[in-house]
Amino acid sequence: MNKAAENIGNKTLRVGGLQLSGKAILAPMSGITDIGMRRVAHRFGAPLVVSEMVASSEYVNGRHEARVRAEGQGIFPHVVQIAGCDPAMMAEAARLVEAAGADVVDINMGCPSKRVNGRLSGSALMRDLDHATSLIEATVAAVKVPVTLKMRLGWDENSLNAPELARRAEASGIALVTVHGRTRVQFYTGKADWRAIREVRKAVRIPLVANGDGADLEDARAMLAASGADAVMLGRAAVGRPWLIGAIARGLAGGEFTEPTAEEQRLAAQEHFDSLVASMGEKAGVRHARKHLAAYADHALGAAAPSDGRRARIVTTEAAGEVRSLLNSIFLEPACEKAA
Ligand SMILES: Cc1cc2nc3c(=O)[nH]c(=O)nc-3n(C[C@H](O)[C@H](O)[C@H](O)COP(=O)(O)O)c2cc1C
Repeated sequence: MNKAAENIGNKTLRVGGLQLSGKAILAPMSGITDIGMRRVAHRFGAPLVVSEMVASSEYVNGRHEARVRAEGQGIFPHVVQIAGCDPAMMAEAARLVEAAGADVVDINMGCPSKRVNGRLSGSALMRDLDHATSLIEATVAAVKVPVTLKMRLGWDENSLNAPELARRAEASGIALVTVHGRTRVQFYTGKADWRAIREVRKAVRIPLVANGDGADLEDARAMLAASGADAVMLGRAAVGRPWLIGAIARGLAGGEFTEPTAEEQRLAAQEHFDSLVASMGEKAGVRHARKHLAAYADHALGAAAPSDGRRARIVTTEAAGEVRSLLNSIFLEPACEKAA
């Protein structure tokens, strides 16, 4: 049996020559899956975490921000997602990220953003499968590490060509495909269609990952059952809760679904915040961290979050020291304002 076929129905998941520890993956999210979040998710057992999308031309041109997005020290396997529309540029970016330590290169053909699609990259590539295929071939040929591909179901409901793209990708040497169960035209509206991903399952034998709207272990099981995929990828549900991916992976493997203690969560949020401040400086780091801090606070405070003054303060203060003491208070005394 070849490696791809071994994946189907098995407990483990392989990406090329890499054996993953489980079947849940942290989705790439621009502006969100910074190295701090990925490191925390990895430490709490996420089998795979994917970087924010990196524009191939910006990486090749040495843009600082692109290099920061692709960082992965302390993470294994380290996956860098690249996007672009020029095969030669994608190949060069793949070569460079591999040389900088990436263990896997992921190609973005799922981003619906107009900025990205205006230059015929992201999900716009699903409108021109010949061009998409040449881009895949160039990227795969450029590196020794496995190359994976993330896509949507198609451009719109009249062109659900994910199975055809996946078939071409498999023939071109792609090691794993992820399908977000929406079309480009849907952006993030409606509900992800996990059953529609099954058409891709029928088309390829390489590992298949189902994505879209997964919130918990129950969803993860339902996604696998509906799609026939080998693994699940979750994004938004893990914001403010990066330990979720590891917990779901353990649950899918038959273990118990357990979240870390409040103290462990506090330390994780602190580590994530500190990494942002260390890499961006206090002012930019505190500002960049706000979406994460809001999500950490919402998760820790639950239904009380909207009326808790600490939630409002943590997303407005400019001082890293105040953020740290608010994190202590929010995680360790979540009911303190209510009780007062
Ligand atoms: C803020 C944000 C940024 C995203 N950035 C990327 C990206 O850089 N690359 C990508 O392939 N998908 C990106 N996505 C899509 C996610 O990877 C994922 O496919 C989508 O959110 C559906 O999964 P979820 O419902 O589990 O969040 C992004 C999504 C969000 C919400």
